[in-house]
Amino acid sequence: MHKNSLDSLYTSEGFRETGQELINLLAEHVHNTTSGSNQKTINWNLPDNELNFWKDFLKNGDKNDFWKEVLKRTTHTHNPKYVGHQVAPPAPITALTGLVSSLLNNGMAVYEMGMSPTAMERITTDLLGQKIGYGESSRGILTSGGTLANLTALLAARKAKAKQDVWTQGHTQPLGIMVSEEAHYCVDRAAKIMGFGEQGIIKVPVDSNFAMDNSKLEEYYQKAVNNGIQVFAVVGSAPSTATGIYDDLETVARFAEKYNLWFHVDGAHGGAAIFSKKYSHLLKGIENSDSVVIDGHKMMMMPTITTALIFKDGEHSHTTFSQKADYLLTETDEEDWYNGGKRTFECTKSMMSLHWYILLKMYGEEVFDQNVTVLYDLAKEFAEVLKANKSFELAIEPMSNILCFRYVTPDLSLEKSNRLNQSIRQELLEDGEFYLVQTKLNGIHYLRTTLMNPFTTIEHLKLLMDKIEVCAEKFLVS
Ligand SMILES: Cc1ncc(COP(=O)(O)O)c(C=O)c1O
Repeated sequence: MHKNSLDSLYTSEGFRETGQELINLLAEHVHNTTSGSNQKTINWNLPDNELNFWKDFLKNGDKNDFWKEVLKRTTHTHNPKYVGHQVAPPAPITALTGLVSSLLNNGMAVYEMGMSPTAMERITTDLLGQKIGYGESSRGILTSGGTLANLTALLAARKAKAKQDVWTQGHTQPLGIMVSEEAHYCVDRAAKIMGFGEQGIIKVPVDSNFAMDNSKLEEYYQKAVNNGIQVFAVVGSAPSTATGIYDDLETVARFAEKYNLWFHVDGAHGGAAIFSKKYSHLLKGIENSDSVVIDGHKMMMMPTITTALIFKDGEHSHTTFSQKADYLLTETDEEDWYNGGKRTFECTKSMMSLHWYILLKMYGEEVFDQNVTVLYDLAKEFAEVLKANKSFELAIEPMSNILCFRYVTPDLSLEKSNRLNQSIRQELLEDGEFYLVQTKLNGIHYLRTTLMNPFTTIEHLKLLMDKIEVCAEKFLVS
């Protein structure tokens, strides 16, 4: 690269010009998607075709078309007909904090490399600790995603509760954690990464409502202990991913206390309900946990990826990774809450606290209450509409904004019904007007919606049902 190329790469004029054009394009995109005038939520393309498109674009594409093509070839979370995976349509202001973070690029591992965002991180995580119901000694961190945050929480739990010092001496005795069989797969993965093996992930069956069956906790605990496993933690889901059902955290907390286990709450999806006056009761017992994970990019309208991990006793967050990197980190007598790298898995991370802080500053915590409440209310309303229609069957009454249902017709075997619902989902994906996903529960294939967009209305969902019926009829006659 010539020096000239570098000069042009860094020119502020070029940045201003491209940036202004791009903001106009994105503002138009947000307008067209939220208003629903963009007809498609997804322009489905087969992976190999997409790969070939971008290979060709790199050689022959017009660079002026780059942004337009990206918008055309991605899934539009701002479309009210986006009812698929658990990622938020980010509040546009948080796209701007993302831009600031990317441009300033303060790496956040030590205080000097992100002074303001470090202070903002302390303020936002302190607020979350307070909303959870923890005391003054609570501390938290922000990290890149629920997966990493759950792993970090379990590492802290092991440090605090396991009899041996695995961090320095390695494993000398089999360790294990207890978790619902419906928990997100990242908990299982974390346990495998930590070396517990299959036997160290004690999966507690769910009840008929898909919540962890707390009446089985004792039995599964004793079985593991009798097999020589030192169980040190139990994880509650708030809620679990497939069905959106909250575990009864109060009972899990009592069980954890009885056996001196670390109680971790995976609230990646629905921990945000601590802000909802109407739905915070779902999290009853969370205040008795040792740690909680809440994703900003799910129910809190932020862009991927930002997750809060909050500890009841902040001390644990400081001792999880006692590993020296002397050039970065100096030992201090006072609590150095401001050197994030000591407490996160990551070294460098983005200035993600800007998203949390700007929403609090500009809209206040009420906006989180509104978002959760509107979306959970909508799922209940949708459930009623589905129940009133004989062509549909609900898997279970929703507790959150995740809702599983299927198209049903009399005299169809389970196998055929599963195939029919699978075909419906594929047809909807290829059609692209709506975006929803699917799951299997007890061998039954369901369509799965997560109502992430506060601009989705019951009318949109009725249109979805109409579309599913048309689709089903087409498959049934063919
Ligand atoms: C309950 C739960 N935990 C953890 C995760 C993983 O979080 P992330 O995607 O932020 O890594 C998810 C993601 O859907 C989830 O639903």
